Amino acid sequence: MIRSRALALLLAPLVLSVPACGPSGLSRADAAQGDTVTFAPNWAFPNGSMSPVVAEKGMVVTTDRVASEVGAEILRRGGNAVDAAVATHFALAVVNPEAGNIGGGGFMVVRMANGTTASLDFREAAPMAATANMFLDAAGNVTDRSLMGHLASGVPGSVAGMWEAHKRFGTLPWADLVQPAVNLAEGIVVHERLANSLRSNADKIGRFHETARIFLPNNRPPRVGDRLVQTDLANTFRRIAADGMAGFYGGRTAELIEAEMRRGNGLITREDLARYRAVWRDPLRFGYRGHEVISMPPPSSGGVTMAEMLNILEGYDLRSMGYLSPEHVHVFAEAARRAYADRNAYLADPDFVPQPTQRMISDEYAAERRATIALDRATPSPQVAPGLGAPPREGTHTTHYSIVDEAGNAVAVTTTINSLYGSLVTIEGAGIVMNNEMDDFTAKPGVPNQFGLVQGAANAVAPGKRMLSAMTPTIVLDPRGRVLLVTGTPGGATIITSIAQIVSNVVDFRMDVTTATAAPRLHHQHLPDSLRYENDGLSAATAARLRAMGHALAEREGYQGDVQSIIVLPNGYQSAIADPRRGGAAVAVGEVRRVVQ
Ligand code: DON
Repeated sequence: MIRSRALALLLAPLVLSVPACGPSGLSRADAAQGDTVTFAPNWAFPNGSMSPVVAEKGMVVTTDRVASEVGAEILRRGGNAVDAAVATHFALAVVNPEAGNIGGGGFMVVRMANGTTASLDFREAAPMAATANMFLDAAGNVTDRSLMGHLASGVPGSVAGMWEAHKRFGTLPWADLVQPAVNLAEGIVVHERLANSLRSNADKIGRFHETARIFLPNNRPPRVGDRLVQTDLANTFRRIAADGMAGFYGGRTAELIEAEMRRGNGLITREDLARYRAVWRDPLRFGYRGHEVISMPPPSSGGVTMAEMLNILEGYDLRSMGYLSPEHVHVFAEAARRAYADRNAYLADPDFVPQPTQRMISDEYAAERRATIALDRATPSPQVAPGLGAPPREGTHTTHYSIVDEAGNAVAVTTTINSLYGSLVTIEGAGIVMNNEMDDFTAKPGVPNQFGLVQGAANAVAPGKRMLSAMTPTIVLDPRGRVLLVTGTPGGATIITSIAQIVSNVVDFRMDVTTATAAPRLHHQHLPDSLRYENDGLSAATAARLRAMGHALAEREGYQGDVQSIIVLPNGYQSAIADPRRGGAAVAVGEVRRVVQ
């Protein structure tokens, strides 16, 4: 299906932005121009097969057209990018129940047009009754309780996050931003994306009665064109509209969450909900070839790990190696291997575990790590230890959206309930699909989690602690300090490598938004020692060369990530594309079209 979509796009007439500046004006990192790169012969998204959406007055790009439209409508009504983010976030909770959420959490990175930057942590927190060994059985083996059922959920952060973001930066009334979600929850016409998701996950959804009652009405997944009504969720959103954060963390909604947890032997109480807060953290910032990258600090590992990777890569002339040449893929994988070794050992909730952030993102440390890379052969992962000494002993589902408004305010949000449909538990009476984020903690040091991440004791479960994330909402400023790129993706452990690659695609290889998004993606996470690439993403010759260098190459069955990026063109227009891998939508305010064919 995705391949035929790529083909359809190939046949579509080419739509270009009106060049308010000449081609030379596009030379700011040549972001609008796109280098000519050629991908492997059978790659699903050949260069030139897609066109960006270009806007003059704002852009919302998400994984779902309905949610993108909701955000764009808020921009049209005069709301800013943060207002649009709030409305989009809540709309996604209705139209994208597999990942969009109010039963989960996430991270927001903001860069306002006046230069203010901010990053907001609304990650879930472990309930106060949580313990380090809660996911082990009597014999000390890891169970599946971190993945499925009531124990798998952390205290949700999304409503607190949106409330905080709105309090600080919002301009339109809160209730107006929640209302679209109320309307959608009262009934949506099921579109293809949702129908496919419900159909392919019907077995999982059927395991918990309330989840099945809502999402498998008449005991079957709804078909395209059916109406899906989420009455309880609409009422929850009404309480949130009326009472703000208290409409979720107190009153009726909190009672319903606590009652559900009691029924299913979960841990979240009304006290856990009442004490939850979203936290403003200092944004993670680092330089990359004259650009400034602004991303998420711990408890997301995204910014720090990406910084270490890109700082290592800054020592190589990637451009002259050639895109996805064996040399390029090799150094990318070696940088990732080292950065993930550090990530997995050291990173955790900074309120619980001292974080070596400044050291990990320093150029000096990158130089030390780079010095251990051999250019002609892979370093086996067992030979790559975390680089900063002994780590402290104590202590698929997600979605991303990017928004830029007419004034130039930019917002990147990645949000998740972890697996598809989270813990599979829906709060009876409240319609909230709950996360299974507890699996992002280390259930047992050395034992991989669902993403194969082998993490350490720093990320052990503790009451009130936030589990380490890989989510990497990111904004890149050009050398003149203007927003160039707003980006992020789902994909569990692969999020960081995907976003490091997108940043490098744009900065090193000067790709435009479609080429940077279409390019085949790579991943290495230290353990397992495997260099993964997307199906048909590398040519046979490149793969053979990498194998000869000692890489354990693994071709993925499916795709990696669902990147939603906006590139701001030199003339201030926004150019965007939803990742064709899952088929979202970029919706423009003041769309600029010029059909050249
Ligand atoms: O926070 C994290 O890193 C994970 N819970 C993200 C999960 C994810 O991206 C799943 N989607 N594909």
